[in-house]
Amino acid sequence: YRVEYLNYETLSDHGWDLGDDDLFEKAADADLSPEDYGVLSFTDDRNLLAAAEKSGYAWPFACRGGACANCAIAVVEGEVEMPSNHILSQEMVDRGLRLSCISVPKTEELKILYNVKSLPGLDELRL
Ligand code: FES
Repeated sequence: YRVEYLNYETLSDHGWDLGDDDLFEKAADADLSPEDYGVLSFTDDRNLLAAAEKSGYAWPFACRGGACANCAIAVVEGEVEMPSNHILSQEMVDRGLRLSCISVPKTEELKILYNVKSLPGLDELRL
């Protein structure tokens, strides 16, 4: 799998928007640190949080069990498999939000934003 990731917190610093079509192109050109932007490559069916940690990155989490939404990500391209969801509303799921601690890639390539905790609606969910 090839997972291109971007720290949501960098968007406001650069005046970017989640809906920008060329968001990841802009990120690639912006000389961001590897913590904020890069690519995770792995072959096994691990969850995205574990994949980030294996590469040495500390993405937000708390419960690791799909119950707190601290680990939420926004999937911009590609699909992940999320075996259960007891916390995100259907509306959030429709917007592409997933829980990285339990979500495994379903497509070879993914583009995701992590650290999306300041997205509207997520604040109240976090424990
Ligand atoms: Fe709590 Fe993922 S860490 S839902």
